Amino acid sequence: MRITVLIDQWSEKPEDHDPVADQVTAALLEGEHEVSYVGVHGDLRALVDDLERSKPELVFNLSESFRDHLFGAVGIVGMLDLLGIKYTGGGPGEFYMQQDKALTKKLLAFDKIKYPEFAVFSQDSDFETGGNLRMPLFVKPLRQDSSIGIGKDALVDNFRDMMKRILSIHDKINDAALVEEYIDGREIYVGVLGNSMPTALPPIEIDFSGLPEGAPKIMSSRAKWNTRSAEYKGTKAVLADLPDELKARLQKVALDAYRALRVRDYGRVDMRLTPSGDIYVLEVNASCYLEKDSEFATSARVAGMSYVQLINEIVDLAVERHGIR
Ligand SMILES: Nc1ncnc2c1ncn2[C@@H]1O[C@H](COP(=O)(O)OP(=O)(O)O)[C@@H](O)[C@H]1O
Ligand SMILES: [Mg+2]
Repeated sequence: MRITVLIDQWSEKPEDHDPVADQVTAALLEGEHEVSYVGVHGDLRALVDDLERSKPELVFNLSESFRDHLFGAVGIVGMLDLLGIKYTGGGPGEFYMQQDKALTKKLLAFDKIKYPEFAVFSQDSDFETGGNLRMPLFVKPLRQDSSIGIGKDALVDNFRDMMKRILSIHDKINDAALVEEYIDGREIYVGVLGNSMPTALPPIEIDFSGLPEGAPKIMSSRAKWNTRSAEYKGTKAVLADLPDELKARLQKVALDAYRALRVRDYGRVDMRLTPSGDIYVLEVNASCYLEKDSEFATSARVAGMSYVQLINEIVDLAVERHGIR
């Protein structure tokens, strides 16, 4: 099959992108596909030209943004739809629903899936809340990912600090602020693959035991990206050691959330598990990060699927969903 890998390019140079694009390309070549590459870097006309030139039967979509547009990822897949190009993963509607973390909760609520109680503080309108919130609270941007705007001051235990955090998100991130009840518990991620019959992969847990004494047990932006920080060094993703019953319950919640958010082909559900056994969904990541050592690829490997198999399985799922050939 003729497949084009679509990825965000950080500069004019084609090689200037996340290594995941090269890993996916290599896996597709091993799957005997004919693979080309198109970078997304701010010039929409050039992007359309590049896509039309490469004439893909399928785009493997790894793109997550467009310039500094808040809904850049939504726009890129919307453009693919309008061009009549088929692609892996979520479409504009799916991306919009999972990017707005308050909207996500409203969809989870219909299926009685637990989530942290919350309130939204927009820049331009009154706040929106479902009721009283209990301290401590966690304050984060409503529509960002990759822990953008999440540092150790995200966790607050009084009104003053909460307001400070809200205003800082308005001013520095230029997004609405989402205030949630802080869920003290284990952090578990469950990857899911499939469409009409999705399957949940083995749960992965974030081990916070290496964090400095007193540091909040959260995946802050430093813990995710700053390889030299104490937070990065003190957190690691491991296969969750859980009794079968609990593991099955986590997988069931992940599958329910995946369906509620209409995720396509693959995704990852981020959850917290309290000491009393309650499971809260923090967010649903449609088309989650596919880097070789990511939580998702790791759990697929544990389930017996090599990286090459995983990437080609995602292609097969998209092909089947689109009814290509
Ligand atoms: N309500 C919450 N209670 C406890 N921890 C939270 C809560 N919300 C977010 N976190 C922490 O912050 C991290 C990032 O939050 P998340 O909602 O997953 O945003 P992102 O899209 O940036 O990954 C989580 O992995 C978790 O460690
Ligand atoms: Mg997350």
